[in-house]
Amino acid sequence: MPESRLSPTYRPPRHRRSDATDLPDGEDPSLPARDPQRWLKLATAIVEQSSRENPADGVLRQHLRNAGGLSKEEAAQVSQAVFGYFRWLGWLDASLRLDSKIRAALELTAEFAMNPQTFRDADLLARTLPTWVIDLVPVTAAWLRAIQAEPTLWLRVKPGRAKALAQVLGYTSACPLLDALSYAGADDLFRRPEFHAGDFEIQDVASQAVSIVCAAKPGETWWDACAGEGGKTLHLSAQMQGKGMIWASDRAEWRLKKLKQRTARAKCFNYRAALWNGGAKLPTKTRFDGVLLDAPCTGLGTWQRNPHARWTTTPDDVRELAAVQTQLLNHVSPSIKPGGKLIYSVCTLTRAETEEVAAAFQAAHPEFTPLPTADPFQSHKPHQPQHCLWPQVTGGGGMFIAGWKRAL
Ligand SMILES: C[S@@+](CC[C@H](N)C(=O)[O-])C[C@H]1O[C@@H](n2cnc3c(N)ncnc32)[C@H](O)[C@@H]1O
Repeated sequence: MPESRLSPTYRPPRHRRSDATDLPDGEDPSLPARDPQRWLKLATAIVEQSSRENPADGVLRQHLRNAGGLSKEEAAQVSQAVFGYFRWLGWLDASLRLDSKIRAALELTAEFAMNPQTFRDADLLARTLPTWVIDLVPVTAAWLRAIQAEPTLWLRVKPGRAKALAQVLGYTSACPLLDALSYAGADDLFRRPEFHAGDFEIQDVASQAVSIVCAAKPGETWWDACAGEGGKTLHLSAQMQGKGMIWASDRAEWRLKKLKQRTARAKCFNYRAALWNGGAKLPTKTRFDGVLLDAPCTGLGTWQRNPHARWTTTPDDVRELAAVQTQLLNHVSPSIKPGGKLIYSVCTLTRAETEEVAAAFQAAHPEFTPLPTADPFQSHKPHQPQHCLWPQVTGGGGMFIAGWKRAL
């Protein structure tokens, strides 16, 4: 392992999931006796089948669904092996067989969790990401250290319930600024009675920050324009205490179907779902108090949780998505009332999709003025109209958020 040269800004990850086994080496006594290598064979097949068209997380989900009789521990080992492989790919000896590379990646995972200081910043900078990233993102060793650690699972907790929930769930720690708890236990949270009672949602802490910046109020009218499966729609509705109206649109019908299932389970009723393809023809003539554009993006802020995407995303994607984001902003902006808010968010960190999109929008729309808001993670900082939230600060994903107010 390389000499110790720890970045002074590095903070170790607050949690490792306790259901992720440390180092599967084929001799773990918890593995079923019938085939101690089953996890490795499955992980190898999943890595082989993963591609840009078939991302690893989807291939993994499909295999875990179809692999009969897989124990919870084996499933966790397979996930850790697949994601570990893509997280440490730049360190692996290309001449090794794939199963040996997966084992080597798991050794690196364990070593990094125990002794992060043995990994030099220079090696992290050279090996963690494809070379194009450095031209498009202000890369730091602190960011790379954050995304090489195993991700934390975050819960968005009903206001005032964090303490009680922490007691019943165990294995949690709090991010009090956001009513968020991280969870490092092994329970299937979707089966917990507290989940069905609406005490919490599973939502990354950086995504929670977006609605915090929106600060929707009871009785207002909002448009969640790229609502997807409704993570932020639910949060906006909670902020509005179910009073007022949210239009939730997306171009993907299957995502809106999931949104409807989630809202029904969460007893969120103050919304209307509508298909919108992102064009100039809007789904409604309503004028909104606030519009959230949580736009499609290259997702560099999710590269800790989704390391396969590091190797399938390209600079062309950055260019194409920046153009889409600019167009979506132009299209939603007429629907905002005088004095209303426009919040733009992307879970990515390239300059082209963040500050440059915001600058292009501002240049084309003098009727909007930048809206300074508090940094959700650093409340002592002066209010700013843009927040670039890095994983090493959030403890979760990365996110860019910009806000404007329409002139009266
Ligand atoms: C970042 S995701 C939204 C996540 C969602 N807001 C949440 O919190 O769960 C971006 C969404 O934009 C949608 N989308 C992509 N291109 C679009 C377009 N041209 N017009 C409208 N929606 C689009 C995708 O289907 C996807 O659901």
